[in-house]
Amino acid sequence: MKLQFPENFYWGASTAAHQVEGNNTNSDFWLMEHLEGSTFNEKSGDAVDHYRLYRDDIALLAKLGLNAYRFSIEWARIEPEEGVFNEAAIMHYRDVLAACSEHGIMPIVTLHHFTSPQWLIRAGGWESPDTPARFARYCERVMGELGEHIPYVCTINEANISIGIAKIMKRYQSSANAQVGINTQFMAKMETYNAELTKAFGLPAQEVHSFLMARTEAGLANIFRAHVEARAAIRRVSPHTQIGITMSLYDIQAQPGGEENAANALHEEFLQFLPYFEEDDFFGLQNYTRAIYGPEGYLAPPEGAEKTQMGNEFYPEGLEAVVRYVFKATNKPIIITENGIATDNDERRKAYINRALEGVYACVTDEIPVKGYMHWSLIDNFEWQLGFSKRFGLIAVDRSTQERLPKPSAIHYGNIARTNELIV
Ligand code: BGC
Repeated sequence: MKLQFPENFYWGASTAAHQVEGNNTNSDFWLMEHLEGSTFNEKSGDAVDHYRLYRDDIALLAKLGLNAYRFSIEWARIEPEEGVFNEAAIMHYRDVLAACSEHGIMPIVTLHHFTSPQWLIRAGGWESPDTPARFARYCERVMGELGEHIPYVCTINEANISIGIAKIMKRYQSSANAQVGINTQFMAKMETYNAELTKAFGLPAQEVHSFLMARTEAGLANIFRAHVEARAAIRRVSPHTQIGITMSLYDIQAQPGGEENAANALHEEFLQFLPYFEEDDFFGLQNYTRAIYGPEGYLAPPEGAEKTQMGNEFYPEGLEAVVRYVFKATNKPIIITENGIATDNDERRKAYINRALEGVYACVTDEIPVKGYMHWSLIDNFEWQLGFSKRFGLIAVDRSTQERLPKPSAIHYGNIARTNELIV
């Protein structure tokens, strides 16, 4: 059966600056990766050298048949010191946008994707009440200069991610407590790391507030205020740009007796933030798997479930459920800004794409305004703490030569994009 997608559907892939560009030396993550006792498995280094090879990568994306590219602009490059804006970095992103336009690719730009300038962290990071204004000032500068070439902008990537991090840390700690050996080692490593953090940022470790960390309630509110202030600034300087935020969302399911826990999770991870999106133009939806709740709370994936390299359950059907609950709650156009799978078995990536898109198709036929699907990721990249071993890319890279090697899934997805049809 052929499933025909709407005309003008955006078929794209996503990346994030720090994960692909390389040598993001003024960012907080760069510093943290280089500390002794670092929680990062490896350093980002040259990553996949996208800061140099972006023109080739965009040409390849277009050649595959895609018509959209979601990427992020790196705050630490644009404003390496507070109030000092780097024209060369702005020119760089101007050329990234030009490359998109030359290939007929619609750019979707993210202004913050986890990394921040080191100076921001020294000034209190994401717990500081001054951060929303600082973020808005950076957004105003970038969008004032480049906004005419940016039809869609996401202010902050996965603004709610700290909630997921806190939950994962809680689960990890209770399993680590059961294994005292690991725990002692872990604690010793953390002590070294904390001392190093203090040296690096000139702050007690508990006052280092990078983005991918657990947050206080005030810190969380800061992030969403940053979105609201940035939105107002962007409206002033680039009124034609459609503005949204992106959120990390699970298909939240309940087993009998787990309904209240599931409802609480949905509220905590999503519904409580609705007022902040009221004036947005679209919603950036990111989903990878489901989360099941029972009467005692979160349940690990069912026994025997297929897992991805991330330890997530392989569950592409989750996307449809999330699109439906997001639309019901926001009534806004949706762009799927991330969805994908870490695997070395590319056949499973193809299967994941097909099953996820079948769900998207069902939503579209129900007249839910899904504008596009951005697969995570265009290219294998630096998966944060887990390094380069987790492979989400449609395109593989030989990092010794930086040669790009499209996987069969890239050809498969490109064909869907080119024909606007999914064959099931
Ligand atoms: C993030 C990406 C990350 C992906 C896969 C999302 O949470 O936005 O930066 O690589 O998930 O883990």
